[in-house]
Amino acid sequence: MSPSSFIRVDGLHKNFGETPVLRGVDLGVKKGESVFIIGRSGCGKSTLLRCLNGLETFDLGRIHVGGVQIQMSSGSRVPERQIRELRKNFGMVFQSFNLFPHLTVLENAIKAPMVVKGLSRAEAEAVAVPFLEKVGLKNQLLSFPHQISGGQQQRAAIARALAMNPKVMLYDEPTSALDPFLVDEVFQVMRNLGEEGMTQIVVTHEHRFAQEAADTVIFMEEGVVVEAGPAEQIFSAPTDERTRQFLRRYS
Ligand SMILES: Nc1ncnc2c1ncn2[C@@H]1O[C@H](COP(=O)(O)OP(=O)(O)O)[C@@H](O)[C@H]1O
Ligand SMILES: [Mg+2]
Repeated sequence: MSPSSFIRVDGLHKNFGETPVLRGVDLGVKKGESVFIIGRSGCGKSTLLRCLNGLETFDLGRIHVGGVQIQMSSGSRVPERQIRELRKNFGMVFQSFNLFPHLTVLENAIKAPMVVKGLSRAEAEAVAVPFLEKVGLKNQLLSFPHQISGGQQQRAAIARALAMNPKVMLYDEPTSALDPFLVDEVFQVMRNLGEEGMTQIVVTHEHRFAQEAADTVIFMEEGVVVEAGPAEQIFSAPTDERTRQFLRRYS
């Protein structure tokens, strides 16, 4: 694993009850890298993202993000303070948009900066509005989520996450709930962010987009990383038979 990694995960194990879901995940993510995670449903992709940003605890192993490290071994207490520190690094975008339905696009984006960071409304707007404009929602600031398309909602969710100035963006199947013709507008926003140097970890079944936008692709199966490498290598010349089988079936 490269010493220049901003994120390092070593030997991550996570069980739900008796069921092992992550069984020793190792990975590294460098600053500015766009890492795409592919793999079958149920292989642990969402759980991995959720462990990274502290939405789930884990049982064994180590997560290192910037200067924050969380190490768990049997009997470790959950380090609440470090988990809060860990979480500050991440913005997360989910499949189902997760906008507050009773708040406008603008209010959605200024809520956390005001509540969590204690910014005034004017300060929060000064931070959030440029991100909303950047994702193409300049004219939808006062719309409610139900008044805009799924693609616009997902772009609003991205801007809302950016308004907290995360160092890393996590996306969990960000286009899976969208009509196919709305997928590209969301990908375009993610592509632009990647080109501007945002560090991104993207779980997706959209292999064509992964192929085009990923610096690194990680193939997971049954709770482990089977293979990681440059997109062209993973998609054109995977070295592991399990990766080959998966791509034959799902590409
Ligand atoms: N909160 C939970 N409680 C129990 N089992 C869970 C929970 N979340 C996920 N799982 C199980 O863990 C496995 C991995 O799930 P997940 O990380 O969501 O996979 P993926 O995102 O790759 O589809 C699945 O078998 C799933 O049923
Ligand atoms: Mg998932």
